[in-house]
Amino acid sequence: MRSFTNVQDDEEKRPYNDDGNGDDNGNNDVSVGGCVKIGTPPFFIINKYYYICVGYIMNNTNPNGMRIKNIIISAMLALLANSSIDAQERNIFIGNALNRTNICLNGKWEYVLDPFRTESMGNTQIYRNAVPRDKSDRVEYSFNPAQTLWVPGSWNTQKPELMYYESNIWYRRLFDKPDLDDSKRYFVYVGAANYLSTVTFNGKRLGRHEGGFTPFCYEVTDLMKKEGNFLIIGVDGGRRADRIPAEVADWFNHGGITRDVLLVETPKTFVSNYYIALDKSTLNSKVRKINGTLLLSGKDMPQTARVQIPELKIEKSVSVGTDGKTDFTLDAKRLQLWSPENPKLYDVRIIAGSDTISDLIGFRTIETKGKQILLNGEPVFLKGICLHDENPLRRTRANSIEDARLVIGWAKELGCNFLRLAHYPHQENLVRLAEKEGILLWEELPLYWGIQWHSPKVLEKAKQQFKELIDRDYNRASSIIWSIANETAVVPDRNKFLSELADYVRSLDSTRLLSAACKKDQGRDGHPDAVYTYNDPIMQKLDIISLNEYLGWYGGSPAECRDKTFKMGLEKPVIVSEFGGGALQGLHGDKETVWSEEFQAYIYEESIAMFDKIDGLSGMTPWILCDFMSPLRQLHQVQDGWNRKGLISEKGMKKQAFYVLKKYYESK
Ligand code: GCU
Repeated sequence: MRSFTNVQDDEEKRPYNDDGNGDDNGNNDVSVGGCVKIGTPPFFIINKYYYICVGYIMNNTNPNGMRIKNIIISAMLALLANSSIDAQERNIFIGNALNRTNICLNGKWEYVLDPFRTESMGNTQIYRNAVPRDKSDRVEYSFNPAQTLWVPGSWNTQKPELMYYESNIWYRRLFDKPDLDDSKRYFVYVGAANYLSTVTFNGKRLGRHEGGFTPFCYEVTDLMKKEGNFLIIGVDGGRRADRIPAEVADWFNHGGITRDVLLVETPKTFVSNYYIALDKSTLNSKVRKINGTLLLSGKDMPQTARVQIPELKIEKSVSVGTDGKTDFTLDAKRLQLWSPENPKLYDVRIIAGSDTISDLIGFRTIETKGKQILLNGEPVFLKGICLHDENPLRRTRANSIEDARLVIGWAKELGCNFLRLAHYPHQENLVRLAEKEGILLWEELPLYWGIQWHSPKVLEKAKQQFKELIDRDYNRASSIIWSIANETAVVPDRNKFLSELADYVRSLDSTRLLSAACKKDQGRDGHPDAVYTYNDPIMQKLDIISLNEYLGWYGGSPAECRDKTFKMGLEKPVIVSEFGGGALQGLHGDKETVWSEEFQAYIYEESIAMFDKIDGLSGMTPWILCDFMSPLRQLHQVQDGWNRKGLISEKGMKKQAFYVLKKYYESK
C-alpha cells in the first residue's frame, strides 16, 4: 500500500510520480496506448505455470520428504491460477457490443475525487471500495454516502465545481446478477472514457486504457458474484504532451465516462469481432464477392461457423481454425449497393457454436481515379460540414441517438451527404445513424497540434487508437475516409511518424481512403501569394489531398479570395477540409463588421467561389456545423467559451452563412 509520505517525495521530485512510461502513478503497468498487462507488484501476473514451478522446486529442495503434501499444494495452486484469467486475456475487443446480450450500467454512479492521482486516500486504495469495519476503523473515502455523476456524461458540465477539473475521478457502480450463469462469460464494455482509465472489478485491477474516444472491454467472468458486484473505474481527464491529443486543442476537454457502459454476456466461445466488405474488384461483376474475417474467442473452438444474409439467400459454412480466426468469401447476386440515395442495409447473421450475432451492413465501394472520388464506381461530390461530438443545446458531450439525430438532421437540412467527424472518433450512435440516413463520413484521430512525433510510444498510442476505431467501424458503409492528422507542421519526425501510421492503417483496412487535413506550402492564412501550392510530403501516402484554409479570417480579407488560385503537387482528388469564420448569432452589421452574421456569410460567398475553381475539387467540409465549447475562446460577450464558427448557434439558431452554403450544395 502506498503511503502518503512517499507520494509526497515523488511530488517533490516530479510534477507527479511519472515513471516515464506515459502513466502517472508510478506503477509501470501501462503498455503503450490501449490496454495493459496488470501492474506490479508482479504477484498479479503470476499464473498457473508459476505454481507448477514453485511446487516442483519445493519438492526438490525440501530434504525432509514432504513430497505428497508439496505436490497437493502446488496442484491446488495451479488449479486456482487456472480459474483466474490472465491479465492479457482479459482485454478483448468486442465488436457490435451494443447489439449483444447485456446489462446496461448507465445511470447515476457514485464518485470520489482523486485530484493528485494518488489512487488512494488515507493509505487505502480507492478501488478497494473499503468501508469502515467498526466505529474505530478509519477509512478516508466513501462511495456511500457519495456524490454522483451521470454515466455516460462529461463530468465538467454536470457540476460547476468540476467545470475545469482535469484530474482523476473514481466512479463506482454496484450491481447484482442473480441469474449468474456458469455457462456464460461476462465482460465490462466501455464505449469511451476520457482519457486514461484504470478499470477495476470487485477489488481487482483489470487493466488500463489510454485514449478518450474509442471502446475498450475487460473480461470479468472469474470475478462475477450473484450480489454486490462493484465496478470501479478511475478516469484521468488530464492533458499531457505525450498523449493524443496533446496539451492544447481548440475544443472542450470533456472528462469522464462519456459513452455507454455495459455488462456484456456471451457463450463460452463467441464471435468477438468480424470484418465484412464488398470486394471492389467485383463491383461490375454479375455475381459480386463479399470478403470477410471472423474472430472467435474461447477455448472450445467450433469446427465451423455460418454466415447468413437471408435477403440475398446467402448461407455459408466456414471452417474455423484453432486460433479462432477465419476468412471467407460470399457470392452475392442482385446485391443492392449502399449509397446516400439508397442507404441499403442487409441483415447479416453470424452463427458460431451457441453464439449468434447479427448486424445491419451496407455494401459499397469507395476509391479514387485521377482527381475523382468514385462511390460504387461513380464520381461523387462530398457536400459536407465539420462537427464536434457535442450537443450544443445540452452544452455537453454527445452520447445518445437523440444527439446524433439532432446534428444529422441539421446537416441534411444543409443539403449534406458527408460529415467530417472532427477531430476524434465520435459516438457509435452517430456513425450508425449516418449509415441509415445515407451520410458519408470522414473519421480521424486527434493527431493535432503539439504531438510528440519523435516518440515511439506516441506512435504506438496512435496505432492502438486507430486499431480500436477500425475494429469498431470497419463494417460501417457510411465511413469512407480515415484521416491521420490535422494541421501538423511539416517536419522530419512528423513525416516519418505519419508515413508509418499511414502504412499501418492501410494494413488494417484496404477498403477505405486515407487523407489528412494539411496546410499550403505558404503556411499562414492570408498569405499574399496569388498561387497557393500544396507539396506536403505526406500527401504521397494519401488518396485525397485535403486542405484547411482560413483566408479572410485568420489573415487577408474575403475579397482577396477572388485573386487566388490553387496548385496541387499531385494528381489526386481535393477536399477543402476547413474554411470559415466566426459570427455571433443575432449580431448584424455590414459585411466588413467582424463577428456579424453578414461578415461570416461574406467569407462563405467568397471562399466557396474561390475553392469551386480548384481542379479536382471533390468535396468540402466548412468549419463548422454548430458553435462548440472551447477554452481557447474567451472574448467576452461574443465567445464566452464558445468557438463561434458554427453555422448554427448553441441555441439551434441558424446564421446567414447556413443558407449561403445550402444554396451552393443545391447547385452541386
Ligand atoms: C483549425 C482547427 C480547428 C479549430 C479551427 C478554428 O483549423 O483545425 O480545430 O477549431 O481551426 O480556429 O476555429
